[in-house]
Amino acid sequence: MSHKLRVGIIGCGGIANGKHFPALSGNKNVEIVAFCDIDLEKAREAAAKYGAENAGVYADYTELLKDSSLDVVHVCTPNDSHAEISIAALEAGNHVMCEKPMAKTAAEARAMLEASRRTGKKLTIGYNNRYRTDSQHLKKVCEAGDLGEIYYARAHAIRRRAVPTWGVFLDEEKQGGGPLIDIGTHALDLTLWMMDNYKPVSVTGSVYHKLGSKENGANAWGPWDPAKFTVEDSAMGFIKMENGATIVLEASWALNTLDIDEAKCSLSGTEGGADMKGGLRINGEEHSRLFVKEVDLSAGGVAFYSGNSSRDIDVECGMWIDAILQDKDPVVLPEQALVVTEILEAMYESAKTGKTVYMNQQD
Ligand SMILES: NC(=O)c1ccc[n+]([C@@H]2O[C@H](COP(=O)([O-])OP(=O)(O)OC[C@H]3O[C@@H](n4cnc5c(N)ncnc54)[C@H](O)[C@@H]3O)[C@@H](O)[C@H]2O)c1
Repeated sequence: MSHKLRVGIIGCGGIANGKHFPALSGNKNVEIVAFCDIDLEKAREAAAKYGAENAGVYADYTELLKDSSLDVVHVCTPNDSHAEISIAALEAGNHVMCEKPMAKTAAEARAMLEASRRTGKKLTIGYNNRYRTDSQHLKKVCEAGDLGEIYYARAHAIRRRAVPTWGVFLDEEKQGGGPLIDIGTHALDLTLWMMDNYKPVSVTGSVYHKLGSKENGANAWGPWDPAKFTVEDSAMGFIKMENGATIVLEASWALNTLDIDEAKCSLSGTEGGADMKGGLRINGEEHSRLFVKEVDLSAGGVAFYSGNSSRDIDVECGMWIDAILQDKDPVVLPEQALVVTEILEAMYESAKTGKTVYMNQQD
């Protein structure tokens, strides 16, 4: 491809400004040429700050997609529109990065995957935690077989009082759920990727609405309105995999606990264990002694990517754009994100019915 990749952004809110605009602006192979938000002022502001000359500004994403000169579209809207907009963008001939979670439901996520296969356009999901230096290193440890067979894992997404109070995060209809679909999704994605295990057979979940209805003042992003808190405030799950492995997933925005951390996992294998909480540590037994090895990640992540930043958001963007330019698979495959979505949906379903959900193995 001789020209810079032409990118359009749909949804110019928090994640677009916090991740997509700064990361894309730092990538020499792209230019951001189209901006869309239902709040037109947000699109205008972003275009003025990050846009190429004569960048298009739209309030309606279908208008943005009429621009046939686009190569790539990033979908940064609330969860309920991820599937609709991503599918339309793929069908309009674009490669698509859609923010996490892939979609509200597994059926929507499956339709996105099918659209990507049908159009031959790449689809990836914004699981940026995979690109952190600790994650990239742990993936190498796992791939090298240093932990042996990983048969037990814990996926951590625990906050004490950090409920996102902006946008529509508390709205069940728009988001499909609370901390489970919002941050549990990151922790589960990371865990499945480390284990390289995408075959769940059963899921049991509990979902709680305990603290969201209370008056509150200690929240990281200011008090929430209990009347608007329609999603769960915490969720716990027990997931069994086809090969017998077990994953325990914990997610909360508000929980009375001191054991906080998020977008982390702990892995236990036949040859060793790994813990991402409080710094990356590998543990095991050697010469009749237990050991804990702390991994020094201070050298940064430049070895993983030939750019000059090791910020996860820059590495994510760089590898995504490289995947398009070199016609390679993206790091986050839609097939993998679909399994995350299926498990989360099964957890919600199990919590509702009080029963274990048995997954139908497809593919
Ligand atoms: N990767 C991460 O760690 C991470 C972090 C935060 C948010 N996210 C995800 O990003 C998405 C957006 O979250 P946010 O924090 O940016 O929310 P936000 O409310 O700050 O921004 C969303 C923007 O989308 C706009 N919008 C809504 N519907 C639209 C439509 N149909 N067409 C065009 N624009 C539309 C809104 O006006 C708003 O400006 C969510 O899916 C969220 O899960 C990911």
